[in-house]
Amino acid sequence: MNCCVAGLQWGDEGKGKVVDILAEKADIVVRYGGGANAGHTVIIGDTRFALHLMPSGAVRPGTVCVIANGVVVDPDVLLSEIDGLNEKGISLDGRLFISENAHVVLDYHKLEDRLREEALGKHKIGTTARGIGPCYADKIGRSYAVRMADLRNLAVLREKLDTIVAYKNKLFGALYNAAPINAGEIFEKCKRWSEKFAGCITNTTEYLHTALDAEKSILFEGAQGALLDLDHGTFPFVTSSNASPLGLGPGCGVPSKHVDTFLGVVKAYMTRVGAGPFPAEQDNETGDWIRERGHEFGTTTGRPRRCGWFDAVAVAYTARLGGITQIAMMHLDTLAGLKEIKICRAYRIDGRETTFFPGDAEQLARAECLYETLPGWTEDLSAIEQYADLPDAVKHYVATVERFVGVPITMLGVGPKRTQIIYRTIP
Ligand code: GDP
Ligand code: IMO
Ligand code: MG
Repeated sequence: MNCCVAGLQWGDEGKGKVVDILAEKADIVVRYGGGANAGHTVIIGDTRFALHLMPSGAVRPGTVCVIANGVVVDPDVLLSEIDGLNEKGISLDGRLFISENAHVVLDYHKLEDRLREEALGKHKIGTTARGIGPCYADKIGRSYAVRMADLRNLAVLREKLDTIVAYKNKLFGALYNAAPINAGEIFEKCKRWSEKFAGCITNTTEYLHTALDAEKSILFEGAQGALLDLDHGTFPFVTSSNASPLGLGPGCGVPSKHVDTFLGVVKAYMTRVGAGPFPAEQDNETGDWIRERGHEFGTTTGRPRRCGWFDAVAVAYTARLGGITQIAMMHLDTLAGLKEIKICRAYRIDGRETTFFPGDAEQLARAECLYETLPGWTEDLSAIEQYADLPDAVKHYVATVERFVGVPITMLGVGPKRTQIIYRTIP
């Protein structure tokens, strides 16, 4: 059985936890998009792992980890993750494969990300400053791109870097009056990475096709969330990759026909980091309350996350976009204590009611939410193990979201730990 796990909101839905749970039965876990902008949390007992590039299956010692071609790799981040895992007694030796076609995030990408955001001032996107946009831009532009395969041919890379850095220095100097960067220093880093990753860089597409032939069980781990998808999200307030499951095929060379389950992950409410429209946002005491209870601060940047009610218009859209067959809803425990809970069931835009998600961010910014109000619950859910033992108000909430979104909700999160998950079978 092959499964793709993907976020259906603006990221941070709890994908890391869900992937970790499902990885128990997987042979291989594949990251197919994004880069170190992702922050995936896995909590086992008292140990917390925050993974940025490494697939969340890494914490299970028998699982093969693949970083496929669609990922933009910051080798320094990856090395520090490997060190962090080693310190916790987890070795990646012989079970990490990185695509030779994955693009490398270099220091000038991170610099450009920062300089551009600073120059944009109040119009900035609010990126994670991890160099994601500039690296994907170089990939699309082709001429100045560096891939993992280039780390295998250092003489050619040295020349290439001279050309690229000369270009970047002219550009950054003219646009931002930035101090020049040094090609030699970047090359020294590349030399180090070339040694460190020599045994890992490979043709991951061939590896995955062979694994499919051998009927291995593969888990595909999405990064970000579908509302941040470059083509289908809330552009320009998105990331620079296809963060919905539509990015799976291009991101790893495996077409969706090989995937049995597309599992969408949502929180029981919405959050967003960075700028952009957010119709159900509660920029008030309710939002502050959710942020405190849910510890809604970024895993990668530590920024406070904006919080709001569950938006069924947005999630119905992303579920359809991703061909989602089941949903996992996290953070139900967080909502305990609210007198009433709202679900956005439709938008009113320019006086017209609609349940379609607008493709244009400016239109979305004008959307007013029409809410269904449900009774809340006060019970602590964190120790509940069976669906039958959940309070009726929780069951009613889940069933109502399911009705609006149109996809069965089969997993319910009641706490951050691996064990705090409730399975629900659909009659
Ligand atoms: P990801 O990017 O989708 O992997 O999500 P993050 O790890 O960035 O953020 C999700 C946060 O919610 C992490 O701190 C998780 O430990 C936590 N979490 C996941 N599921 C639950 C849940 O059901 N309840 C609570 N209270 N926390 C959860
Ligand atoms: P995970 O995988 C939440 C957001 C940033 C910003 C926008 C563009 O942990 O769910 P970028 O650095 O990608 O150019 O930033 O996208 N963003 C995320 N928000 N979770 C993520 O990943 C995110 N990755 C990017 O906050 O608004
Ligand atoms: Mg995250």
